[in-house]
Amino acid sequence: MCARERRAPPPLTPPWTLSALLLALAAPWAAGTGALTYPWRDVETREWLVCSQCPPGTFVQQPCRRDSPTTCGACPPRHYTQFWNYLERCRYCNVICGEREEEARPCEPTHNRACRCRPGFFAHAGFCLEHEPCPPGSGVTVPGTPSQNTQCQPCGPGTFSARSSSSERCQPHRNCSALGLALNVPGSPSHDALCTSCVGFPLSTAEPGAPGAEECERALIDFVAFQDLSFKRFLRLWHALAGPEAPGPVPPREGRVELQLKLRQQLLELREARAGALAGRLLRALREARLPGLERSVRARFWAH
Ligand SMILES: *[C@@H]1O[C@H](CO)[C@@H](O)[C@H](O)[C@H]1NC(C)=O
Repeated sequence: MCARERRAPPPLTPPWTLSALLLALAAPWAAGTGALTYPWRDVETREWLVCSQCPPGTFVQQPCRRDSPTTCGACPPRHYTQFWNYLERCRYCNVICGEREEEARPCEPTHNRACRCRPGFFAHAGFCLEHEPCPPGSGVTVPGTPSQNTQCQPCGPGTFSARSSSSERCQPHRNCSALGLALNVPGSPSHDALCTSCVGFPLSTAEPGAPGAEECERALIDFVAFQDLSFKRFLRLWHALAGPEAPGPVPPREGRVELQLKLRQQLLELREARAGALAGRLLRALREARLPGLERSVRARFWAH
């Protein structure tokens, strides 16, 4: 056969043939795959030929003939070939980016379109899932990427994160003494330290509306609402403050933080409703709710003995 004969080494190898061979072997695309050729039977002569393949971005427009090499044609728009090939047409760029994806690489002659998850989403098991926020009490250590969810860590001593967020780190607690204020409520992992200018025991003596009374009432409200009490105890206090004309029980499935915020709102409304009446009302409610420990610490802090 002609093709085989042509591949047989000639009796004398000229030096340029050897160097061309070495060059071909050194080409990275040739490593391990053998020569980038393919067998082709000429339609007219029925003779087997060895045709060269076409490089990425092209396809075989015309197979080689006995006396002419392979003609490669460029891939048309929206088509590609990624590897050396002997395809008769380029492949269609068939990757379509989904609703939660964006194009990472457009369709080009040498590769298919590639997608990645849009900002705010990450790839998991073939889906783009939303970056999860870190809950209150924990902060972001590494923001989410297209391939990874948000990394969270509980806030360490002296730091807090009050909000559910996928970007906020834990922040240091406010330093009341550095601000020239008194510490009213120590900071926790989920809330900042609360400072006040209320000092002394003005609630036992002050007239309603006296200077400082308002700030002390606000401090009293924060002091009670941010106590480290169980949900059940907060609920008892809430009912005691609401009185018999309560608008209905708080749904028991609500979290403690929700209830604390609600209680704080309730206390603020009581203060608005009747100036100067808050402290007395609160002390009665604490007794009614059977919270003697909290009643004692409220008295110790806000009333003269
Ligand atoms: C708060 O500030 C005071 C005075 O600036 C400082 O001595 C103290 O160490 C600070 N406390 C914290 C917890 O940073």
